[in-house]
Amino acid sequence: MAPDAVPRLRLSSPEINRVLGGGLVPGSLTLIAGDPGIGKSTLLLRLAADVSGSDGNTLYVCGEESASQIKMRADRLGISGDGLYVLPSTDLDHVLRCLEETKPSLAVVDSIQTLYDQTLASGAGTIAQVRECTRRLIAWAKEHGVPMVLSGHVTKGGDIAGPRVLEHMVDAVLYMEGDPISSWRLLRAVKNRFGSTNEVGVLEMTGRGLIDVEDPSRAFLSERRDNAIGSVIVATMEGTRPLLAEIQALTTPSSLPTPRRVATGLDLNRLLLVCAVLTRRVGMRLADQDIVVNVAGGLRISEPAADLGLALALASSVRNAPVEGSAAAVGEVGLSGEVRRVPQIGRRVQEVGRLGVQRCLVPGSAMDECRDVDDVQPIPVETLAEAIQICVPRGKRAQPAVF
Ligand SMILES: Nc1ncnc2c1ncn2[C@@H]1O[C@H](COP(=O)(O)OP(=O)(O)O)[C@@H](O)[C@H]1O
Ligand SMILES: [Mg+2]
Repeated sequence: MAPDAVPRLRLSSPEINRVLGGGLVPGSLTLIAGDPGIGKSTLLLRLAADVSGSDGNTLYVCGEESASQIKMRADRLGISGDGLYVLPSTDLDHVLRCLEETKPSLAVVDSIQTLYDQTLASGAGTIAQVRECTRRLIAWAKEHGVPMVLSGHVTKGGDIAGPRVLEHMVDAVLYMEGDPISSWRLLRAVKNRFGSTNEVGVLEMTGRGLIDVEDPSRAFLSERRDNAIGSVIVATMEGTRPLLAEIQALTTPSSLPTPRRVATGLDLNRLLLVCAVLTRRVGMRLADQDIVVNVAGGLRISEPAADLGLALALASSVRNAPVEGSAAAVGEVGLSGEVRRVPQIGRRVQEVGRLGVQRCLVPGSAMDECRDVDDVQPIPVETLAEAIQICVPRGKRAQPAVF
């Protein structure tokens, strides 16, 4: 069946619906995975509250927290609790009996690692238990056509505990990501039998719970200062939509025999590649500099499309001059110093224009994709050296501040 032909339980959050492919599918199992403390329980409680009340009852199985803790959270999130049944239990048979009795419209299990099946000898959280509990929940959900949402912790190695055993069993896996010290949370579909994978929802953790971020690009750029040194706007693709982000770079003379390279939100290997190209193809002296780069707002960018922006942020810091005209940049940097095209350039540049940035550097080979963009001037560049000449020309070097 085509994904849009499947009936769905729509939730109140457009961002969550988007990641799910339109809403929860009856009888499906969705796993919400993420680090402890990232906001899984907050999300699950919100889903449960969404469906309870007018649409029917929901059963919230909490193996990690007491009913009174859930009540305190519900009060904080402004959830009334109408039709929302909280079951503090870790015994799978007990949970299945309660599901039979309540026949909810949605069941939530927080978390799958706390459930255990008495017939197995191993303890809760072991691979055998996690697998068997999930198998029996799936069987119940499919038989009764009730959607279920499970939460699962990610272990240090990055797997969902019970090393990925759940991923192939459930219908959808959503990872909740974000820097714990920032309030942004991304909900990323890595598997979805009923929708597109790689779709991303952007939420913000507030005192009143997770709220939708309506214009993520604007939110991620909200604290950017124009003409900041070492700061460049890049346009990444998150799933099917373009997202603008600010890359910041700071270079300082190093006193270490091996200067430091620190990347937050960017792949360290990409940083090393861009540094090598700046050194060899542009002649920029970086060998005696400590380098710190960061993506503002706790976003993580893994696309090479941010290379050009990263290189310009570094050049801006080294030359101590802001990027001219606060330009944005899109493009991959190759080892010979060439700027290469990346997918969806037109949509990225269009997003740059929508946010009021007037210039965007693009790979020369991709200019044909920029014909229809409004409100922004695409500037074609063939090489990194050319991009730096346009954005951070040598003569414009600002005076270093004197303290
Ligand atoms: N009183 C509070 N006010 C604001 N935010 C809170 C409060 N209590 C918890 N939080 C937020 O909720 C997060 C914990 O969310 P939770 O849903 O329990 O995570 P998980 O279930 O993934 O471990 C905290 O990191 C914090 O950001
Ligand atoms: Mg929790």
